Amino acid sequence: MKISKLAIVILLCNSYTSSKNKHLKVNLKCLSQATNEYFSNMKILLTGSNGFLGQHLTQFLGDKGYEVLAVSRGAQRIPVGKFLYQSVDLTHKQSVKQAFDTFKPELVIHAAAMSKPDECHLDQAACLLHNVTATEHLVECAARTAARFLYVSTDFIFGENGPHPETAIPNPLNFYGKSKWMAEEIVRASGLNYHIIRPVFIYGKYWEGMRPSFIQWVDQNLSAGKPIKVVADQLRTPSYVQDLCKGIELVFSGPINTEYHLAGKDIISPFEMALTVARVRNLDTNLITAVTADSFPELVQRAKFSGLKIDKAVQELGYAPVDFETGVRWSFDL
Ligand SMILES: NC(=O)c1ccc[n+]([C@@H]2O[C@H](COP(=O)([O-])OP(=O)(O)OC[C@H]3O[C@@H](n4cnc5c(N)ncnc54)[C@H](OP(=O)(O)O)[C@@H]3O)[C@@H](O)[C@H]2O)c1
Repeated sequence: MKISKLAIVILLCNSYTSSKNKHLKVNLKCLSQATNEYFSNMKILLTGSNGFLGQHLTQFLGDKGYEVLAVSRGAQRIPVGKFLYQSVDLTHKQSVKQAFDTFKPELVIHAAAMSKPDECHLDQAACLLHNVTATEHLVECAARTAARFLYVSTDFIFGENGPHPETAIPNPLNFYGKSKWMAEEIVRASGLNYHIIRPVFIYGKYWEGMRPSFIQWVDQNLSAGKPIKVVADQLRTPSYVQDLCKGIELVFSGPINTEYHLAGKDIISPFEMALTVARVRNLDTNLITAVTADSFPELVQRAKFSGLKIDKAVQELGYAPVDFETGVRWSFDL
């Protein structure tokens, strides 16, 4: 039943594109639009729903008509949206199995993680449990129900010499990056139909119950007249969270067994990001001092020139992120 519907969708797209004599990219976009309609009631189990990305993504997918089971460890913290919620510790296999048996997802989006590199360094056993063992449990359950699997990875699987394309050789510089790469390998070897996406330095709108992102930290300090020191010799390609949500939908509506970088289009240092926040929010840029990464006693090594190239997602999926300043304005409803 589902296959024949999808076949009709593909047929419609082919006749549309051949009659208009358009390029394959248009064909893929058309297929993506059509599969969006087809998939609009797809059952999605989303892990990490209480996190910064997870809260935005739960609302985004619910608004799009997907049937979402939002899963996190603690009590539900998402203020509004159309979704079901279940508190599940992903390190407990039996609880994960029970969530799958009840909800029977068609797609799993795995965004839960122990996501702070310093914490991962300090408690490596916990990091392995939350980032690797939890992924093993989810993959095992997804295999039993033949669900597709979308894993949210990170630019931290790569080392220096960014921005990196999808074909770059992983070389994590810290334990967090290693654990995320290990989880990627589990997903790739699972035999599941999978997607791997990699965002960078996620930022966006904040609401209560959420972990603030970097731009809120800058805003809060400058608004209180407090000076801040920000690293100027590291480069990143920050992902605006709404672009990321749209990109994730494009990815799971597209070809399987693929990897895509869903970053922003600007290559920018945290210092430049802070200046942009100050300008957009009309705050005093003189409170921001540029420092070098060496002057910060950091627990873990981070790449100086990191960031990810997004050409593949742009060309193959029509991914179209905004520039950093626009993302900041929209994050503050400006
Ligand atoms: N933030 C970034 O800049 C960034 C950049 C690149 C990639 N990523 C990746 O993107 C994903 C989302 O990042 P984020 O910043 O939104 O994460 P986050 O705010 O730290 O949230 C992670 C969520 O995972 C949940 N979680 C952790 N361990 C769990 C477990 N054992 N069982 C159930 N739930 C568990 C937590 O739920 P509770 O709150 O209920 O405990 C938490 O809400 C992560 O996979 C991260 O590695 C993030």
